[in-house]
Amino acid sequence: MRKIILAGNWKMNKTPAEAEALLKELRAALPQTAHTVAVFPPYLALERAVQQGEGLLVGAQNCHYEASGAFTGEVSLPMLGEIGIRAVLIGHSERRQYFGETDETVNKKTKAALAAGITPFVCIGETLAERQAGGYLALLADQLKAALEGVSAEQARAVVVAYEPVWAIGTGVTAGPAEAEEVCAMLRRTLADLYDRDTAEVIPLLYGGSMNAKNAAELLSMPDIDGGLIGGASLKAADFSEIVKAASR
Ligand code: PGA
Repeated sequence: MRKIILAGNWKMNKTPAEAEALLKELRAALPQTAHTVAVFPPYLALERAVQQGEGLLVGAQNCHYEASGAFTGEVSLPMLGEIGIRAVLIGHSERRQYFGETDETVNKKTKAALAAGITPFVCIGETLAERQAGGYLALLADQLKAALEGVSAEQARAVVVAYEPVWAIGTGVTAGPAEAEEVCAMLRRTLADLYDRDTAEVIPLLYGGSMNAKNAAELLSMPDIDGGLIGGASLKAADFSEIVKAASR
């Protein structure tokens, strides 16, 4: 059985005090669940989230792949690990689009996170132009393979993959369940080719892109969608809780 993961990507939202308030609301609103519920607050709120996010998996939204050194403005995995961070988003499309993240740095960060014992949530996705041009399945398979280059089957079992079509992020346009499943099933086959079926079967594949309380149940009912990476709707405790509830049904 694969883990089901509902993860909130807060992006550049919430000051530390606001984060504390949201965590409090979440603690009150979230249902009891056997699933993994994760939050990815901004760096400055991480320590509080670890302290106050009882039962939550707390992750960072980015990291550097070197452990230390002359990389002004960056945060390393050992720094994150020391304050209790157990997961990290890698290669979110906003980082690829605005901050020069490439398949190569995604791969380096993924390997560094695995070495540090921090779960990499590797994000991949196609733009609208790439989807319209066709060939997006091959492109997404290539993104996944590039991210996992040099990662062994044993290590890959600790990876989480998030499929986030760029055209669906923050746009209110969600991939339909069949569209999202088409990609996730292909990603599962790609993982089976890269490694083996057993390994592919245990790697959680999340969908992200305008997931909300209304569309979550249908998306999460698809056989190869094992959870969600939720942006906007994760900033409201009631909405995020509804999504977690939808996954528990
Ligand atoms: P969204 O963001 O839910 O606001 O579309 C998802 C994400 O970027 O992870």
